[in-house]
Amino acid sequence: MHISTYSSADRAARAAATRVLECLGANPALVLGLPTGLTPVPLYRALVRAHQAGRADFSLATTFNLDEFLGLGRGDAGSYRTFMEAHLFAHVNLAPRRAHVLDGRAKDWRAEVEAYDARIRRAGGLDLVILGIGRNGHLGFNEPGPTLAARTHRVTLRATTRRANAGLFDGDWRRVPTHALSMGIGTILGAREVLLLATGRSKARIVARALRGPITTRVPASLLQVHPNVSVCLDREGASAL
Ligand code: PGA
Repeated sequence: MHISTYSSADRAARAAATRVLECLGANPALVLGLPTGLTPVPLYRALVRAHQAGRADFSLATTFNLDEFLGLGRGDAGSYRTFMEAHLFAHVNLAPRRAHVLDGRAKDWRAEVEAYDARIRRAGGLDLVILGIGRNGHLGFNEPGPTLAARTHRVTLRATTRRANAGLFDGDWRRVPTHALSMGIGTILGAREVLLLATGRSKARIVARALRGPITTRVPASLLQVHPNVSVCLDREGASAL
């Protein structure tokens, strides 16, 4: 595991963006796993700037987002699909048919999660997955618990996770959906390369537990310790408990 600490959250995000651009340069048909949340916003900003400056061509790339709220999808204000359109998809030359986000409004969520896994398999799996980390150690919406699911599945969101997402719902956490669909931990760990971005004091404790503590499903991000190719980009605050 390669851990780098930067002087600011913006620098950490830009370093992560640089790694994405290196991978994309080496393999224009890159298959990327993508996160949502506040942490990756400056990373997406850096990717958009690179694209506008002619330094990033996404035309052959494929993306799979990690998760989506159940009941929400394209056009819904709080959906991760809408977040991705606003922060990345609308500003780069990704082919819309290759920019995948789980459809939380699918009539049959079981068929939706199976189709999502099949699409990831057909794409050859993830080359690079970019991850954030929840304050409870979740990856995607793989919440802490006695067990974790390997493949894409339906999850019940913890109250802490719903609170952390209140910003997408006018600050009212009770409006945050109670369930979501999430890529499983097996698919995430199956990525050939993992890039974890974690910034801010609120993440310091869980970063230390995930990277230095015992490997446990109670801290899903601790499973990254078994992956052979993980880079971690932190700011000073995020690294302050290591
Ligand atoms: P955040 O979310 O970037 O908004 O802190 C990270 C996560 O929950 O995975």
